[in-house]
Amino acid sequence: MMQPHLHDILIIGSGAAGLSLALRLGDDASIAVVAKCSLTEGNTLYAQGGISAVIDKEDSVTAHVEDTLNAGAGLCDESVVRLVVERGPENIRWLLEEGVEFTPDADNPDHPQYHLTREGGHTHRRVVHAADATGSAVENTLAARVGAMPNVELLEHHNAIDLITSRKLGRQENRCLGAYILNLETGRVETFMARFVVLATGGASKAYLYTSNPDVSTGDGMAMAWRAGCRVANMEFIQFHPTCLYHPQAKSFLISEALRGEGARLRLPDGTRFMPNFDPREELAPRDIVARAIDHEMKRIGADCVYLDITHKSREFIELHFPTIYRKCLDFGIDISRDPIPVVPAAHYVCGGVLVNRDSETDLPGLYAIGETAYTGLHGANRMASNSLLECLVFAQIAGENILVNLKHTPAPPAIPPWDESRVTDSDEEVVVSHNWEELRRFMWDYVGIVRSNKRLERAKRRIDLLRLEIREYYSNFRVSNDLLELRNLAEVADLIIRSAQNRKESRGLHYTLDFPQSDDTNQRHPTILIPNAYTPRPRHSRVT
Ligand code: FAD
Ligand code: SIN
Repeated sequence: MMQPHLHDILIIGSGAAGLSLALRLGDDASIAVVAKCSLTEGNTLYAQGGISAVIDKEDSVTAHVEDTLNAGAGLCDESVVRLVVERGPENIRWLLEEGVEFTPDADNPDHPQYHLTREGGHTHRRVVHAADATGSAVENTLAARVGAMPNVELLEHHNAIDLITSRKLGRQENRCLGAYILNLETGRVETFMARFVVLATGGASKAYLYTSNPDVSTGDGMAMAWRAGCRVANMEFIQFHPTCLYHPQAKSFLISEALRGEGARLRLPDGTRFMPNFDPREELAPRDIVARAIDHEMKRIGADCVYLDITHKSREFIELHFPTIYRKCLDFGIDISRDPIPVVPAAHYVCGGVLVNRDSETDLPGLYAIGETAYTGLHGANRMASNSLLECLVFAQIAGENILVNLKHTPAPPAIPPWDESRVTDSDEEVVVSHNWEELRRFMWDYVGIVRSNKRLERAKRRIDLLRLEIREYYSNFRVSNDLLELRNLAEVADLIIRSAQNRKESRGLHYTLDFPQSDDTNQRHPTILIPNAYTPRPRHSRVT
């Protein structure tokens, strides 16, 4: 029989959130970091625009807080916003100390060290970046640093299936004890035991047909936490990035908002600008407004895409600031210094997630959630650009501080039975999985997308109920595979998105419905919290919100 793995801390996910946490925990505890794919694959790697923080001397914490609250359309937790914004500059310094190289500002003495760009919703230049490949600079640097830690075991190609809780083992007190994890190289399910488990599994935008996210973003952490009895919040607020490259061969390629920060204009196919008709902030309005405006115009004139035009900038400027985008578009025959770029909106970011308190603790003792997987209260009904990498860093720092304090008085978990596959066989019809993947992502796009309605949501709900039944049956009969696990999680998360959207009988931020086109501050100005059947409130001394 395979021996279980035993660590002090099991971190599931190796993006900005998971890797920062490993570094923050330091050298003393024994740590496992598991990743479903290669270590660096995930949303972080593809982040372009940058990380927001108050660095410019003209800028202020108050302004960053206000901009975030405005973008969040009345649903941000102001105390969390303040906490994150205040910790911004020290986290940028921390990244610099870890070795991340941000783009310097050669020309402007007012921004003493680094070039600061602007994005939608920001009233100041406050986005630190590494050209247009900030995520790659952050992820690769952190991965190298964590790789050098002798106390960290890095396990790539390991897909976490489910959390192990003491309640499921028949104990009275509920606590997270570890996770069952499928080793994708051997096909075996291994048992991981830990004093603390941290979900850092990123987003869930693969629930949509068109997305800026890589394939790993299937909401696994959100689904696992939900099944283990944790509440989730604000799942209806899915952010659609306004500008993804529209080209038959381009899979999920983002055209950074930073182009609009540098003056790029959105145009219809005939060259007319349209954003001035929608918002006084024009191309720099928050993303929900820009994405809806594009969707509206595409539907109005029956266009397949709109165009983003940065031809007012010189080729030298574009090559310096947007080298990745410039080269990628050139590969597709588009010279962005001369031609407008064809763009469409695509699912980009989940503002909701696993409900955590100010210490990053979930409802389940022993379980933390950080990064895109978590709902901290920062983003409200719409995330402001470049606030999410900041959230990853700040809550990794906070979780690290909290875990190190709690580690001292937390014993190792008791023995856990191994994964039982005595009643399952190999799948005989993989087509069920691939068919259901496609169906789910298509109806989520059509019915639970940028513009929703009661009828569309009801249709989606009927379909997801059926799919979940089929998946449950399939899951209980057949051996697990990567695709099946991802589909099961996507279906769980899609159900949470649909139910949250049905609960919100108003339009606010990223949730827009034709049946309730206005915001209802009297009755609806609060987060949507869903409570699972297995939910047990934490003991009273804990500080879960
Ligand atoms: P990720 O970086 O997505 O990492 C998730 C990790 O979890 C991966 O290691 C994955 O393998 C692992 N994982 C998932 N499921 C499992 C499982 N079942 N078992 C084991 N491991 C698992 N935000 C900004 O602030 N600024 C930007 O400029 C910016 N640009 C973006 C551009 C793009 C194209 C995209 C997609 C997002 C962008 N974002 C940006 C958002 C930001 O990148 C993400 O919110 C952030 O990187 C999330 O980090 P994370 O650590 O939470 O998750
Ligand atoms: C972008 O560069 O447009 C993405 C920024 C973000 O999602 O925060």
